[in-house]
Amino acid sequence: MSVPEEIKKRVQKLREVIRYHEYLYYVKNSPEITDEEFDALFDELVSLENQYPELITPDSPTQRVGGAPLEEFPPYRHTLPMLSLSKCNTVQEFLDFDSRVRRELGVDTVDYMCEAKLDGVAMELVYRDGHLVVGATRGDGVVGEDVTPNVKTIRSIPLVLLLDSPPPVVEVRGEVIMPISEFNRWNKEQEEKGEQTLANPRNAAAGSLRQLDPSITASRPLDAMFYALGIVEGMEFSTHREELEFIESCGLKVVPWRKYCKNEQEVIEFFHEVESLRDKIDVGLDGVVIKLNRLDYQRRLGELSRSPRWAIAWKFAPAEVTTQLLEIVNQVGRTGQITPVAILSPVSVAGVIVRRASLHNEFEIIERDIRIGDTVVVRRAGDVIPEVVRAVKELRTGNEKPYVKPETCPVCKSPLVREEGGRVVRCPNISCPAQVTESIIHFASKAGMDIEGLGDKLIAKLIEEKLIRDPADIYYLKLEQLLPLERMGEKLASNIISAIERSKKTSLPKLLYALGIRNVGEHIAELLSNHFGTIDNIKDATVEELTSIPEIGPTIAESVYNFFHNEKNLRLLHKLFAAGVEYEPVTREEKPQPLAGKTFVFTGALSSLTRSEAEAMVKRLGGKATSSVSKKTDFVVVGENPGSKYKKAITLGVKTITEKEFLQMIEKTPPRQNAK
Ligand code: IVH
Repeated sequence: MSVPEEIKKRVQKLREVIRYHEYLYYVKNSPEITDEEFDALFDELVSLENQYPELITPDSPTQRVGGAPLEEFPPYRHTLPMLSLSKCNTVQEFLDFDSRVRRELGVDTVDYMCEAKLDGVAMELVYRDGHLVVGATRGDGVVGEDVTPNVKTIRSIPLVLLLDSPPPVVEVRGEVIMPISEFNRWNKEQEEKGEQTLANPRNAAAGSLRQLDPSITASRPLDAMFYALGIVEGMEFSTHREELEFIESCGLKVVPWRKYCKNEQEVIEFFHEVESLRDKIDVGLDGVVIKLNRLDYQRRLGELSRSPRWAIAWKFAPAEVTTQLLEIVNQVGRTGQITPVAILSPVSVAGVIVRRASLHNEFEIIERDIRIGDTVVVRRAGDVIPEVVRAVKELRTGNEKPYVKPETCPVCKSPLVREEGGRVVRCPNISCPAQVTESIIHFASKAGMDIEGLGDKLIAKLIEEKLIRDPADIYYLKLEQLLPLERMGEKLASNIISAIERSKKTSLPKLLYALGIRNVGEHIAELLSNHFGTIDNIKDATVEELTSIPEIGPTIAESVYNFFHNEKNLRLLHKLFAAGVEYEPVTREEKPQPLAGKTFVFTGALSSLTRSEAEAMVKRLGGKATSSVSKKTDFVVVGENPGSKYKKAITLGVKTITEKEFLQMIEKTPPRQNAK
């Protein structure tokens, strides 16, 4: 039976009207009709679609929450990488950035477009012919996760752009956030239900977006604000301001706290304005992003490996409050390090409830004379764990008790070892249950082997029951061993066994990270993998080879070397592989090596990059950067106020070049362009 023409028209009309009112309500915050009127339109559309299911399209307003839960999120490769930003913290640092920009462009003044820096989850949306086809997380900047069904549940994100004739491809970038008030309400409900609470609105937004069942995401109060474009086919912009106007005209919410600034003075004023707004608004902000307004200037300055040279994030000073320090507990970490942790009377810092804060080490507690019972100043800065800044000594009553340094491990009772003058206190017992537990938790974590369902509590239980003693034991667990555990059903147990089985197939960076090598986080694991390609190659690497990798210094190199020259660790690896753990071989990127075989020395101040950035670039392009000039040196790069190395170069007849010549010599990242 074919659908009557007037029904088709009515459905189309209803969708247009609903989209428009959704836009007014969720994006503009200025509804023109009542909720009841809106519901009536929506209900009519639902009933027509029920009657004529053939009319349902994926972008109908009724289809925001639909579809079955996913198995996993497919990877999504961004057409243009999603970069991060260099940071500054003070007026002077911002002014240095401004001077560098003007000097390099050879102009007296530049105008900027500034926006509040949102503390959320970075997101890219792709619209084809005006229809939302992809919503993906930033991931590592190159490949993110395709979370489209979840993104569609966010009501302020249009499924269809508001434009009459949209460009064939529009990529927009922004941030998914959870308003602070909603986050607090959600956390309170979780607490009442006895379920897990989350540390901050950003984690809550990230966790909500990563739900495999979109109906769960739909129940979370998420919002999204946008601030940049990726590819926009068939359009040309000349300023960032125009780009933002375009995003707004699409019907998307642009970061509302923004300002066009004619010069650096206006930027400074805007920064202070946003800083004072911070505690009054319902969205977590952690600074201001300052971008050169003119896109031709942006192209001229280009990008470093991970961040553009035409923008900077000026971060707010961390938020501080006072509360009472109730107790100090000693926590044993993965490497045996003891961290004193302050248990606080719960307090809200920049919208987030804080109950525990780091005291770093005993040396600091004693030096700063922090006592149990003190009123203390607590600080939170971005995603850093909250910390106790100082005690308010004027408020002491006389009942405060000084911290007593522990002599034995709070868990295994081994005598503690003090290193670096008391700054590092360690439990030396590598079989200490606390260390074993922490290292297995780390091993199974999302960024490591990613064993779903194998959380902190279960790991602790498995250790207690002596079912596992090291990370590899996980792979020898049997269903029958799990079943007798408390609160373990047949279904849960078999889910865990299959998650363990699935995790055997992994990638080299994840495996390396999971091993918990000291000083090797996700980023370093990635670098090692790209450079060496296999575990065996890393195992055979010398400290020199390791330090030849950009960003890897002697401390990291030594930890890696020591790890792979320890019998116990080699046995662990053997046991893992014997259990069937395997990783995809890394195809090493064949990067151009234009500086292969060349040795560089830098002297004097460079204007457009720091010394270590310049040295890292040399290494990345196959060259060597050393600190002293010899006959073997190929080039001495001379910055402002060069030192004795310059003279030595002249004496030895080594070629000297300016910073500009050096920059011309090295590969430049291609400028950002909007595709035609
Ligand atoms: S622009 C090339 N603008 O900050 C420019 N980023 O540290 C890339 N962020 O990954 C980003 N608010 O998640 C830009 N107004 C804003 C932002 C913003 C938050 C985040 C974004 C990015 C990170 C960079």
